[in-house]
Amino acid sequence: MKQKIYINELANHVGQEITLKGWLYNKRASGKVKFLILRDGYGYLQCVVFKGNVSDEVFEAADKLTQESSFEVTGKIKEEPRAIGGFEMDVTDLQIIQISQEYPITPKEHGIEFLIDHRHLWLRSKRQVAILKIRHRVVQAIREFFDKRGFTLFDPPIITPNACEGTSTLFALDYFDLGKAYLTQSGQLYGEAGALALGKIYTFGPTFRAEKSKTRRHLTEFWMVEPEMAFFDLDDDMDLAEELIEYIVQTVLAERKVELEILERDTTLLEQVKRPFPRISYDEAVKLLIEKGVDFKWGDDIGGADETTISGHYGKPVMVHRYPAEIKAFYMKRDPNNPKLALAVDVLAPEGYGEIIGGSQREDDLDELLKRIKEHNLPEEFFNWYLDLRRYGSVPHSGFGMGLERTVSWISGLEHLREAIPFPRMIYRNTP
Ligand code: 4AD
Ligand code: MG
Repeated sequence: MKQKIYINELANHVGQEITLKGWLYNKRASGKVKFLILRDGYGYLQCVVFKGNVSDEVFEAADKLTQESSFEVTGKIKEEPRAIGGFEMDVTDLQIIQISQEYPITPKEHGIEFLIDHRHLWLRSKRQVAILKIRHRVVQAIREFFDKRGFTLFDPPIITPNACEGTSTLFALDYFDLGKAYLTQSGQLYGEAGALALGKIYTFGPTFRAEKSKTRRHLTEFWMVEPEMAFFDLDDDMDLAEELIEYIVQTVLAERKVELEILERDTTLLEQVKRPFPRISYDEAVKLLIEKGVDFKWGDDIGGADETTISGHYGKPVMVHRYPAEIKAFYMKRDPNNPKLALAVDVLAPEGYGEIIGGSQREDDLDELLKRIKEHNLPEEFFNWYLDLRRYGSVPHSGFGMGLERTVSWISGLEHLREAIPFPRMIYRNTP
């Protein structure tokens, strides 16, 4: 393969004449000099075209370049502390690849709807590139974390015959002669089968919720990582969640400094994301909310604003455990000390980001689980295979799901989840 050089490797090429390919990010001119800012996905480089140093054709070509035109440029690299990225190129040659039509996204401010309509182009902006690079590092960190701890990656189906997280947020599709099928809300139930086969597994893929909520924290298609572990109780589950979050945040802080700077992220609180995290019961959370003047009754679900109040109190991720079973999913195990409670945990991120993880110890008793399925009016026939997991060598087991976009959004300091995924899907939008 012919060697290709990218802008993030320039430190190895100081003093050399090299060729780079990319797009025109910005341009300014003063008399006999043109300053072209090249972007190549790896960084930004000021390319200086001196009329005296290049042929007339090259100088004219530089003149023709419009915003986002693609081109190839050759020249000598030198260190230039004042320039963007710390290097500069003295251009000797320039080949136009394509002259871009008038680019819709100009350096002026655009409204958010306009930007999302042009998401396919908006992705090229400095800010979006930074977010995508942080997202990738978060994904890598998640994989590293589980792979290093002996978890097996386990891919659950996307097309499923039944609900996992309640029947109100299902996307239905017609499945040949078999009637309705649904896009998965969570890989968990399948993950449990995996854990009983492999010990510790994690699923990691897209999940779907027909969420009617139009909030900044909800997408209809989002990515979730879901570890599931045999012989883990709720405390083990919380230990793992805490370790995972610390690992992700500290890795991104160490390795995506430049991107966090581009996003102007104040990282003070992120730096404090170190174990242990506060662990409070739902009961204690209720007390805290009431103390803070929130109108809240035992049994209410902890909503977005309440989450902000609770996590704001600690300035660190908080684990809230043992929720009223009534407001939680059918598969959660009841607390043996108080059967009104489910052995559930939510991890709430600080700075108003709210729930990033939901998890629990699972009901491992066949009869109890059957009872819950009936209480929740779930179609028993579809859960027969799941009940088999309690018939054949049932063991205590636990797991959780972490929303990737919620995590990226928190770490990056985004106002809305829509920037944390390349092409967001929301209740009122499924394009581009
Ligand atoms: O709390 P949830 O619904 O839990 C489950 O799906 C469990 N089956 C997970 C498990 O135990 N294996 O969702 C888990 C996480 C939430 O904490 C949140 O981060 C994210 O998934 N999430 C969403 N992210 C974006 N848009 C939505 N509509 C989301 N719904 C949940
Ligand atoms: Mg939840």
